[in-house]
Amino acid sequence: MSAQPELRVEREGQPKKAVDLLFGDLWGYAPAPESTGPVRFEKRYGHFIDGEFVAGDKWFASVNPATEEPLVEVAEADEAMVDRAVQSSRKAYDKYWKKMKGSERAKYIFRIARMIQERARELAILESMDGGKPIKESRDIDVPLAAAHFFYYAGWADKLEYAFPGGKPQPIGVAGQIIPWNFPLLMAAWKLAPALAAGNCCVLKPAETTPLTAMKLAEILQEADLPPGVVNIVNGFGRTGAAIVNHADVDKIAFTGSTDVGKIIQRALAGTKKRLTLELGGKGANIIFEDAPIDQAVEGIIDGIFFNQGHVCCAGSRLLVEESVAETVIRKLGHRIQTLRVGDPLDKNTDVGAINSKPQLEKIQELVDSGVDQGAQKHQSRCDLPAKGYFFRPTFFTDVSPSHRIAQEEIFGPVLSVMTFRTPEEAIERANNTPYGLSAGIWSDKGSKLFKIAGAMQAGVIWGNTFNKFDPTSPFGGYKESGFGREGGRHGLLPYLEIG
Ligand code: NAI
Ligand code: MG
Repeated sequence: MSAQPELRVEREGQPKKAVDLLFGDLWGYAPAPESTGPVRFEKRYGHFIDGEFVAGDKWFASVNPATEEPLVEVAEADEAMVDRAVQSSRKAYDKYWKKMKGSERAKYIFRIARMIQERARELAILESMDGGKPIKESRDIDVPLAAAHFFYYAGWADKLEYAFPGGKPQPIGVAGQIIPWNFPLLMAAWKLAPALAAGNCCVLKPAETTPLTAMKLAEILQEADLPPGVVNIVNGFGRTGAAIVNHADVDKIAFTGSTDVGKIIQRALAGTKKRLTLELGGKGANIIFEDAPIDQAVEGIIDGIFFNQGHVCCAGSRLLVEESVAETVIRKLGHRIQTLRVGDPLDKNTDVGAINSKPQLEKIQELVDSGVDQGAQKHQSRCDLPAKGYFFRPTFFTDVSPSHRIAQEEIFGPVLSVMTFRTPEEAIERANNTPYGLSAGIWSDKGSKLFKIAGAMQAGVIWGNTFNKFDPTSPFGGYKESGFGREGGRHGLLPYLEIG
């Protein structure tokens, strides 16, 4: 047997706590950074219009949130540029796309899927550099799922009559699609794949902090020989998004982002003939019953809130745990957060990467401060953080009351609010006690209990004994202030079709 490692480690003059010794040092990993050698990108991208990259006149930088250094510059589209994009989509719709047989459209969509797979490594690295998410997530989740969405919807393109038997499904026309920064390439795939399969043309706007993989996707669309204008991509901030929303020749808006902006868009479209789907925020509950497999549940809780730094609309940001097992679960959670590796998103061992932007980091800090001020008990990982970049230590709160801001508001960071319950009725009541209704997780050994509780949840996506599992065949979307409309699955075609 090898000798025991030296345990008397000290940091800043403080002897380490036993838990650090156990989980921190013994489980330390040598750095394993992904090489950025194979990735190529331009210093500047304008917009992708009519099958070509076009320059803009106003430029802004997207930073790498792990280094705070500018990574790439993109242009800001004004109303005239948005108009050019919409006109290009309209022309492509009339000239090519609405006339093309579904089986031909499918060939393009399949080709895009295959090209995403071929360039998966490059896309994953760029996603981590521009957005801050750990490479193991962009590599194993974002990019494969983006390809899977194109594959899945390619399969529907020539089978729309079978998707809606008895109806005569027709495309809507030009779709304006506005996406957020938490899953940049995946959200582009969620929006584009069903729209194209259904026969629509698109004007897509990536988020201002994560435009890079959308520009790489534009290169793929160009190489796939997609007819010019079928997809146009414009860069910019909220103003550019608003110009798409308010453009008279757009037939449908699909938006994923904050509830505040979703409400602005809903107001802007009231009284117009434009169709709308909104996928907004969430305050998902993970409900742990005493008969749950506790270790598995703790992993699910960890995955539910620390995955992608908690930048997940369906995150399990509230934990409801049955009182009889609360102490055990909280103790195990306390140990587990110490073992999460926080840092360089490009390191293959990193669990929690960089917070996407400085304003988001400030928002998380402000909400965590409010938790402390309102009397909740803060438990935080004692890990070291990199000297530069936007990072936040994995955190959870106990002694949380349902009226605390940390129990009500979307934090969108690696912060969990723990509450307890005594009866299933109380669990349901607490889980539904939020203006949102996107996701929930239920952990129990009894299948009948899972189904019963799931039936009472006001949430669009419910996981049983697991969390954050995604599949292109499965519809995703919210209730209440989490929005309306479904993405994914056969349901995901509906927002892009007129069923005559
Ligand atoms: P946001 O809603 O402002 O941004 C999302 C997208 O909408 C971006 O592309 C943005 O440029 C665009 N946009 C902004 N204002 C617009 C407008 N008036 N009209 C049309 N498009 C507009 O979200 P933000 O400010 O980046 O994040 C704020 C909070 O929103 C986060 O802290 C989080 O709580 C929530 N959020 C939820 C997301 C989700 O997946 N449901 C994704 C991103 C943020
Ligand atoms: Mg960026």
